[in-house]
Amino acid sequence: MTVNGGGPRTVSTTETGRSEPVTDAETETAPLDGPDTSDAIVESRNLDVYYGDTQALQDISMEIPEHQVTALIGPSGCGKSTFLRSINRMNDLIDVARVEGDLYFHGKNIYDEDVDPVALRRKIGMVFQKPNPFPKSIFDNVAYGLRVQGKDDGDVEANVRTALERAALLDEVEDQLDESGLDLSGGQQQRLCIARAIAPDPEVILMDEPASALDPVATSKIEDLVEELAEEYTVVIVTHNMQQAARISDKTAVFLTGGELVEFDDTNKIFENPEHDRVEDYITGKFG
Ligand SMILES: Nc1ncnc2c1ncn2[C@@H]1O[C@H](COP(=O)(O)OP(=O)(O)O)[C@@H](O)[C@H]1O
Ligand SMILES: [Mg+2]
Repeated sequence: MTVNGGGPRTVSTTETGRSEPVTDAETETAPLDGPDTSDAIVESRNLDVYYGDTQALQDISMEIPEHQVTALIGPSGCGKSTFLRSINRMNDLIDVARVEGDLYFHGKNIYDEDVDPVALRRKIGMVFQKPNPFPKSIFDNVAYGLRVQGKDDGDVEANVRTALERAALLDEVEDQLDESGLDLSGGQQQRLCIARAIAPDPEVILMDEPASALDPVATSKIEDLVEELAEEYTVVIVTHNMQQAARISDKTAVFLTGGELVEFDDTNKIFENPEHDRVEDYITGKFG
């Protein structure tokens, strides 16, 4: 595994794997129910994840469509965070974690030996539950990813401003870019972390319960932002809040205890007419 010096190899390899543009005619004839899988940017096939001897995910096969919001829901401990981390190889950082099966990004298996996980994580960024800005200025927080990439040239300032704007934070912090990111409110800190993830120009943003530590006003700002982000990026978001999943996502994946993906479909279908009784029971609050 190349940790340094892999440069943009992952990027170029994956970009050649892009699917063909979809024509209007194809769109019109696409099936209306079930996930439209023709535009999957991320795909897992028979993915198993173990922590030591404990299996946390069982045989997960799922195609995540580009430029949509995909929500992962399910009770605590069912493997949502584990699945999210498998998409950008964050599980690599957990010693006891072991991944089996395949995970494709633009058709390239990200667990292949020639994939540089650091480069991969710039294309597939991540935002965590608890806002975790660096103890640095607002500007430096956002510039961090660019500098690591060696893009510390004259464009940094423009890129930082663009990222802050896309994260719906620029207006609030424009006059305090040199002040510490840690002095912001919780909701602003989370949007700063989103700006930091956006700055290196990723294609996919993974969010693990990004609003669950925030108050309702800050939560609603994050929800609005997630919907906007899907115009530029593919968003995969874990939430334990079913109303939130129903509000902001296009597709919903329901994981249940044992690390099983029980149902994955259009969000409306999942919430209005799920195929599986266990999903219906979970959605209607009979357990979970
Ligand atoms: N770092 C870890 N080491 C060992 N076991 C873990 C680790 N992270 C998660 N697990 C276990 O894997 C299962 C799935 O956890 P997780 O993916 O965090 O679920 P969720 O995000 O749905 O709450 C749980 O049984 C949890 O205890
Ligand atoms: Mg979790």
